Amino acid sequence: MRILVTGGAGFIGSSLCEKLIQSGHKVVALDSMFRGSAANLAEIVDHNGFTLYTGDVRDVDDLDACVDILGGLDLVYHLAAINGTKWFHEAAHSVIDVNINGTLRTLEIAMAHDAKYVFASSPEAFGEPILQPMSDGDPMIFTDPKQHQRHSYGGSKYLGEIACQHAARDGLEVAIVRPFNAYGPRLSGDDYGQVVAMFFRQMQESKPLNIHGDGSQTRSFTWIDDVVDGFVKAGMLDLPTGEVFNLGSQEEVSIQYLAQKVAECGEGVEFDSTEGYHGDVKRRLPNIENSANMLGWEATTSLQEGLQIMWRALNS
Ligand SMILES: NC(=O)c1ccc[n+]([C@@H]2O[C@H](COP(=O)([O-])OP(=O)(O)OC[C@H]3O[C@@H](n4cnc5c(N)ncnc54)[C@H](O)[C@@H]3O)[C@@H](O)[C@H]2O)c1
Repeated sequence: MRILVTGGAGFIGSSLCEKLIQSGHKVVALDSMFRGSAANLAEIVDHNGFTLYTGDVRDVDDLDACVDILGGLDLVYHLAAINGTKWFHEAAHSVIDVNINGTLRTLEIAMAHDAKYVFASSPEAFGEPILQPMSDGDPMIFTDPKQHQRHSYGGSKYLGEIACQHAARDGLEVAIVRPFNAYGPRLSGDDYGQVVAMFFRQMQESKPLNIHGDGSQTRSFTWIDDVVDGFVKAGMLDLPTGEVFNLGSQEEVSIQYLAQKVAECGEGVEFDSTEGYHGDVKRRLPNIENSANMLGWEATTSLQEGLQIMWRALNS
C-alpha cells in the first residue's frame, strides 16, 4: 500500500513507519520536526520504500508533494499534532490550529484520493470524564475555558473525531484510535514530555522523581509495540467505517506506583512533589471491548516488562 504517516518522525509515528516498512509498504513520513527527529527514523531512512518529508500538515502543497512521492494514496495515518501537557497550557492557540486544521486537511486529501484514514485521537477527547472505564457512548465533558485552556488538546481531538465521523457518513473509510499513555524509549522526557520518560530522565540526572499532587491519580500505561500493533490493525483490517478503538493496557496504576516501579530500575532514588496541571484527570482506564472484538487487540506487555526494556534501551 502507498501510505502517508503524518507526524511520522515523532514517538509513535516513527515506530509505526518502521513496522509498515518491515511489512513491505511504501511510506512517506510527513513531519514539521516540531517534536519529531530524523534520529527516530535512523533504521529506515535509507530504505527504498521510505521517504521522510519535512513539511507542515496544514499545508496542502506539502500534502500533495507527499502523494506525488508515493505515486498515489491508499491509506493515511494522521498522527501529526502538538502533543505534551505543558504545551496545552502554554500554546493553546497553536494546539488548536495544528490539531484541528491538520485533521481537516488530511481528511480532505484522503477523500480526494479515496484513501482509508486512521485518526490518532486521545482519551483526552473525553475531557474530564466521570465514568470509568472510558467507553464510547459516555458523556464527553469539558470545563469552563476561563478556568484553564488545557482542553485545547482534548477539544481538538473531540472535534477531530467529529470531523472523522462526518467524513465516514460521507463514505470515507475511517478508523479512530485512542492510545492510552503510550511509552517506550523514544518518548520525550523533557519538560514538555510525558511522565514515564520524565521519571527516567530525572533518574538519569540523579534528581528526585517529581510526582504531581499526591500521586494517587491513575493511568493505563501502554507499551509502544502494543500501540503500534493497534494502529496497524486499524489501518489494515477490513472494518466498518467510523469504528473507534481504545488502545490501552488494562493495568491501571497510580502515578505513585509508577514512580516506585521506575525507581526500582535504579538505586537510591528520591521523590518530591509539586502541584499538578489543571484538568489532569483522576483516573484513566480504557474499555477495550471494541478493540478486542474487532481488531483482536489487547496490550500484551506488562508495565514491569516495559519499564525494564525502556530502562535498558535508554542506557545502551
Ligand atoms: N503518546 C501517547 O500516549 C498518545 C496518547 C493519545 C494520543 N496520542 C496522539 O498520537 C499522535 C502521536 O503522538 P506521539 O506521542 O507520537 O507525539 P509526538 O509529539 O512525538 O508526535 C507528533 C508529531 O507531529 C509533528 N508535528 C507537530 N506539528 C506538526 C505540523 N504542523 N506539521 C507536521 N507535523 C507536525 C511533531 O513534530 C511530532 O513529530 C498524536 O496525534 C497524539 O496526539 C498520543
